[in-house]
Amino acid sequence: ASDGRTDLRIVNSVVSPDGFSRSAVLAAGTFPGPLIHGQKNDRFRINVINELTDVDMVRSTSIHWHGIFQNTTNWADGAAFVSQCPIVPNESFLYDFYSKNQAGTFWYHSHVSTQYCDGLRGPLVVYDPNDPHRHLYDIDDESTVITLADWYHIYAPTAAGQSPPPVSATTIINGRGRYPSGPQVPLSVINVQLGKRYRFRIIAMSCDPNFTFSIDGHDFVVIEADGENTLPLLVDELQIFPGQRYSVVFTADKPIANYWVRALPNRGVEGFQGAVNSAILRYAGAPVHEDPLSTQAPSIRPLRETDLHPLSDPAAPGPSTPAGEGVVALNMALSWDPIAVKFKMNNVPWIPPTVPILLQILSGARTANELLPSGAVYPLPRNRVIEISLPGLDLGGPHPFHLHGHSFSVIRSAGSSVYNYLDPVRRDTISTGLAAAGDNVTIRFVTDNSGPWFLHCHIDWHLDLGLAVVLAEDTPGTPTLDPVPSAWKSLCPAYDHQY
Ligand code: C2O
Repeated sequence: ASDGRTDLRIVNSVVSPDGFSRSAVLAAGTFPGPLIHGQKNDRFRINVINELTDVDMVRSTSIHWHGIFQNTTNWADGAAFVSQCPIVPNESFLYDFYSKNQAGTFWYHSHVSTQYCDGLRGPLVVYDPNDPHRHLYDIDDESTVITLADWYHIYAPTAAGQSPPPVSATTIINGRGRYPSGPQVPLSVINVQLGKRYRFRIIAMSCDPNFTFSIDGHDFVVIEADGENTLPLLVDELQIFPGQRYSVVFTADKPIANYWVRALPNRGVEGFQGAVNSAILRYAGAPVHEDPLSTQAPSIRPLRETDLHPLSDPAAPGPSTPAGEGVVALNMALSWDPIAVKFKMNNVPWIPPTVPILLQILSGARTANELLPSGAVYPLPRNRVIEISLPGLDLGGPHPFHLHGHSFSVIRSAGSSVYNYLDPVRRDTISTGLAAAGDNVTIRFVTDNSGPWFLHCHIDWHLDLGLAVVLAEDTPGTPTLDPVPSAWKSLCPAYDHQY
């Protein structure tokens, strides 16, 4: 339980997850950061202490709790210049929020410029003492988290702003990985025992690549996508995009041995030669000094998003027609402007304002004209069904989009032309697919959560290049928000007079 207040120190230190030493921006000094966990409906009180000193990287910070809805506590959402001013060095800030009715697999990361690419990212798990899946599967052990990350040998501020963005040097699985012609550092090992059943929580915490994930010789059953329980779905491979999470039930029922765990990035180091893009699944009793001998069979059951369905309350909100009666429809055209070197949504790039959107709202701004940056903030009415279509963009794509403050129903997935209102998967991050494929990914959700929420590409380099908008929910009326703490106001001393 997390009722007590925990300190999370943000520090610079030198790490070498792949044998290459570099300074990094780290939560509690490790990469990835420590597991933060609690139970459904717990109160989380996390005091983030900024002890950053390295001037070669970004020294202000803010932490986003990816997937947590922050109902009534938008101020604790952690998105710099949307819901707060950054925490400057030598300052601290207490994030205080509840995992209201939420359980599952989440993560936390810096939400200031491209700072999480320099290391500030870690897993967040909310356990459910009454997990509906626990009876279904009789899981022996649900402690395993598998984090997939990209890693760079240059600092993010040097790499950011480039088009195309930098290419990851190494795929890091649970904090370890090898790069071509790099040292043969030990790989991460996931330990299992013959005959036992596990819940593995797979988190893509990358700045750029998506990963094709598999475990040689084994299939597994998906039971959760982005903090939402799904009907069980047997797969032998899954593609996971930056920001997404899956829980899978894994049964250790194969011969005692070592098996390769594989996470092939769509952009980065290719293949598995030299044990790149790999970790090891080890049965108790298998030789501890040996690399696996296993080989990868072609996938016969890859995860398709359209095969995922909610475990309960399956229907999408609103009428079963595209933008039917009462639905607020928004089309978000994505584009690339080579002259401005910016991505745009409906022809506007996201450029962080100096006054955070929440502060603008609390200071009285309400309309699209008042809210800055102009054209990138969309006020939305309360208690309405919102349908957003996101046509594909080929350049730099596929683009994984994440919405803060909500899960949404995926009415239409990438790679599909079918609109499903009956039982579409609910999640908080989707791949928007490609224009060349005719993709028009469409989502629905209900505006039941006041505040300004980021909707952005989770390729962090692309967010930095402008691929974002803010949905300012319930701003025309009186926002139903908890009062912001005075420490929150102090983060923005320059704008204090606006209260
Ligand atoms: Cu995980 Cu706005 O991000």
